[in-house]
Amino acid sequence: MYKIGIVDKMHQDGIDLLKNTSNFEIEIIEDLSKKNLMDKLPNFDGITLRRGKIDAEILNKCKNLKVISRHGVGYDNVDINYLKKNKIVLLVTGTTTSTSPAEHIMFMILNISRSFNLFDESVRNGDFGKIMHMKHNSFELYNKKVLIVGFGRIAKKLIKQCLGFDMEVLVYDPFVDKKVVESFGGKKIDNLEDGLKIIDILSLNVPLTKDTYNMIDFKRMKIMKKTAIIINTSRGGVVNEKDLNEAINKKIIYGAGLDVFEKEPPDSNNPLLKNKNVILSPHAATFTKECLSNMSIQTAQNVIDFFQNKLKKKMIVEL
Ligand SMILES: NC(=O)c1ccc[n+]([C@@H]2O[C@H](COP(=O)([O-])OP(=O)(O)OC[C@H]3O[C@@H](n4cnc5c(N)ncnc54)[C@H](O)[C@@H]3O)[C@@H](O)[C@H]2O)c1
Repeated sequence: MYKIGIVDKMHQDGIDLLKNTSNFEIEIIEDLSKKNLMDKLPNFDGITLRRGKIDAEILNKCKNLKVISRHGVGYDNVDINYLKKNKIVLLVTGTTTSTSPAEHIMFMILNISRSFNLFDESVRNGDFGKIMHMKHNSFELYNKKVLIVGFGRIAKKLIKQCLGFDMEVLVYDPFVDKKVVESFGGKKIDNLEDGLKIIDILSLNVPLTKDTYNMIDFKRMKIMKKTAIIINTSRGGVVNEKDLNEAINKKIIYGAGLDVFEKEPPDSNNPLLKNKNVILSPHAATFTKECLSNMSIQTAQNVIDFFQNKLKKKMIVEL
């Protein structure tokens, strides 16, 4: 019998899959405090992991642990050096986590470009007639330039949607071949600054690493167009939040859509929460019924496949 800890509840479909597979015994762990994780995790042969930080101190107590199956594709909440050293396998949910985030990015682009929150508010406030004379910054996506930073699974969905709106798509990803980008209809650029200067929309789709932390800071925002918008659905630290707020307030760029924050949930006094040119969502890019179910099933299937020696290579993170 393999003992599996479900760290942070996930959609019932994946839980049922594990429950109904022979030789697996599960326990759901909802208290994500370090103390509770230190107490509980040493019991398990494998864990699924949604939220919750798994550091080396916790892992050091987990002598039976052979696999961590991430509910998602980012893994900045796990000490990967420890996993590598101790040969614990890390699995992710692959493309099940791509369609909804790509649609979420597109929604954020459309929402900002059509001043949607302002229009919605105007109808509710009885300003239906007045709004046509009010100043707003709505713009068409047609013929606009978008720069996608990080050309992985989500970006490969997003590019099709951008091209569907007749936008020109530039891609910055030093690890992806020019020909691959071109086969999707994009244009690869080798220098981030060259792209930032000319684009109308920037979408960040990179993992959070030493290199991507604060990759978009004030200095880089300063070279962007005054009308440009930044969409960050990747990880909070990729954009410097203080710089972003300042750049918008000083009209260095126009606005932003943020699904992720350096600290989640963000502090109530985070100035971005009051900035009218920023739209926000609570790390909810995957929150559709399809995506949550598919991710949960894939997270569970990865655990089952690991213990049954049927694992697909593309689900394994090369550490
Ligand atoms: N908001 C959400 O709910 C949500 C959901 C899914 C994924 N994410 C985030 O989005 C990120 C992207 O997801 P994905 O599935 O497309 O990942 P992916 O691993 O398929 O793609 C990431 C791409 O980033 C590129 N990259 C890495 N470092 C880079 C750098 N310094 N500069 C430019 N490119 C770089 C890689 O080459 C890769 O092509 C994830 O890492 C995760 O953090 C967020």
